[in-house]
Amino acid sequence: MACTCVVGLQWGDEAKGKIVDILTDQHDFVVRYNGGANAGHTVVHGDRTFKLSLLPTGVLKPHVRSVIGNGVVFYPPRFLEEVANLRTAGVRVGENLVVSDHAHVIFPYHMEEERLNEAGAEQSIGTTGRGIGPCYQDKVGRIAAVRVGELLYPDHLRERLGVIVPRKNRLLRGLSPDAKQFDADALCRDYLGYAEQMRPHVVNATQLLHDGLRAGKNILFEAAQGSLLDVDHGTYPYVTSSNSSTAGVWSGSGVPSRKLDRVIGVIKAYSTRVGRGPFPTELNDDIGERIRRTGREYGTVTGRPRRCGWFDAVAVRYTAAIGAADEMALMLLDVLSEVDEVRIAVAYELDGKRIDYFPSDAFLLERCKPIYETLPGWRVDVSGVKRQADLPAATRRYIDRLSELLQLPISIVSVGPDRDQTIYLR
Ligand code: GDP
Ligand code: IMO
Ligand code: MG
Repeated sequence: MACTCVVGLQWGDEAKGKIVDILTDQHDFVVRYNGGANAGHTVVHGDRTFKLSLLPTGVLKPHVRSVIGNGVVFYPPRFLEEVANLRTAGVRVGENLVVSDHAHVIFPYHMEEERLNEAGAEQSIGTTGRGIGPCYQDKVGRIAAVRVGELLYPDHLRERLGVIVPRKNRLLRGLSPDAKQFDADALCRDYLGYAEQMRPHVVNATQLLHDGLRAGKNILFEAAQGSLLDVDHGTYPYVTSSNSSTAGVWSGSGVPSRKLDRVIGVIKAYSTRVGRGPFPTELNDDIGERIRRTGREYGTVTGRPRRCGWFDAVAVRYTAAIGAADEMALMLLDVLSEVDEVRIAVAYELDGKRIDYFPSDAFLLERCKPIYETLPGWRVDVSGVKRQADLPAATRRYIDRLSELLQLPISIVSVGPDRDQTIYLR
């Protein structure tokens, strides 16, 4: 029995999907424990590219149990659409894919609430528009929330929505006179329809995982987002609404975090961020543009250009500690072949003083200026390299320096999207 967690240590899109896919074969379960369809995880198998959003990446392997944990916020139409798309692509999806009866359900009024909150607001977060925040708000607020298990009881659901929907309509109208209004009966009909299709997939996922633990099965946890977007530990308030660090594993799956044997922190060789919020190492220049172009840094979910910048060792030292990372996977290293020299933020200057800790409050982080260390670039295409020894000396030096600054081993280096473009370090 072994439990592993793959977690992003930056602002998401660290290429967690690739690492989860590589590790899936060694596991019996792949579990999503946070977030929802705000995630976009890419897996490349030769000339085929898969993009998973709400579903765990493990679903590409039918012999593995893919679990959507209780900590996920779940939008049924998206679930059904993703399953249908996979089947069209020839992937077998059946009862290998399960969803916790305790996951919370997203309704269209959540998206409307998010749209109204974000529209033109000076303090908007730059969210993905998937209803994530409003659904988690309802979860914590309790009275207006619906869990997946409730969709299977028509009379109960009708009664709940009969109370919730008029309340939501009033709330939405309070936000804007032009707010969309919703009809409880129509919503109920739609969701009962989804529920019929989902029924074979709905289980008590916590019990399933505990049975797995007792039977000595291997469980792989797949975080969504990055730890700097964690609602408690990230760059608040410019974060998502869940615990996207490993802090979410326990609450979001029911598997105690101390069962984790291995935490793999996934990092990009540089930094990216989508949406608003402080980003000390951001590059608003030609180099940032070059990284965006070479790394194809456009959002998987929203298509927005990702903001790009240098690697921030201050930030990652912090998230690696929060997440108890044992080792790191260094991704998209090939992208830096485009630059003449590479920089790493090793400390910040805050109000004229040098600091080496990470202030996770956005209003403080905004005032931080990175203090850089500069290393020579390598200017060689490394995307075909298979062995560490065949990497240019400057590339090896960059890897070693990151490992030294973060005081963690780097066990995997990725030099391209494909599974074959992976170098395993000792
Ligand atoms: P995730 O959300 O963490 O799973 O990451 P995304 O899928 O949103 O973004 C990562 C992107 O980088 C995807 O398009 C991957 O196919 C791609 N990718 C993964 N590893 C590498 C790599 O080593 N080099 C390059 N150039 N692209 C990579
Ligand atoms: P993966 O799993 C990158 C960002 C949004 C926004 C903030 C809040 O692919 O790494 P939300 O819709 O969650 O309320 O938006 O979080 N965000 C992500 N950024 N990768 C993601 O997921 C993200 N999921 C949410 O851009 O800034
Ligand atoms: Mg992504």
